[in-house]
Amino acid sequence: MSTLESVHGSEAVAIAAEQRWAWVVGAIVALLVAMMIITGLHWAAMPPSRVETVDVKTLHVKGEFVESNLGTAVGPDGKVTVRLVAQQYSFQPQCIVVPVDTPVTFRATSTDAIHGFIIGTTNANTMLVPGFVSTFTTRFHKAGESLMPCHEYCGTGHEAMWARVQVLAADDFMARSRAGERLSCVAR
Ligand code: CUA
Repeated sequence: MSTLESVHGSEAVAIAAEQRWAWVVGAIVALLVAMMIITGLHWAAMPPSRVETVDVKTLHVKGEFVESNLGTAVGPDGKVTVRLVAQQYSFQPQCIVVPVDTPVTFRATSTDAIHGFIIGTTNANTMLVPGFVSTFTTRFHKAGESLMPCHEYCGTGHEAMWARVQVLAADDFMARSRAGERLSCVAR
């Protein structure tokens, strides 16, 4: 084989190798584009989350958010649900009790402006929009008391709008809860 032929030979090898890599890169790009199209179509076909509405005008007089139904409830199945209402400039109830290391579902709404709350350093964090029910389920890993401030600017009293949350030992909580009763730590 002459020198010229071997130079041509190695150039052909290099070109073939580059072409193989071009195919690999092209396949990765095609895969990523296909993933974008598939997930985009999938999300467009699914509702982003469930939307639950409530009538602000009748909130106080009937339905789930009447005063006597606010606070913490233990259902017949043992599920713990906290119902609360935000208004300028307070939460009702002002003090919420929950058990430690137990799934707790919050259901909350607002009667006037957009409010929100976050509980201490936990991941319990939501916005409250008039006419809509905000709901999420979380667990509290540490017993003790936390502050629950409003974290959406809702008017001149915003910075004074907060509630307290007491996380109790699970057996202590269950000892206090009675079927059908709403618990809170507001002094009566
Ligand atoms: Cu309510 Cu800020």
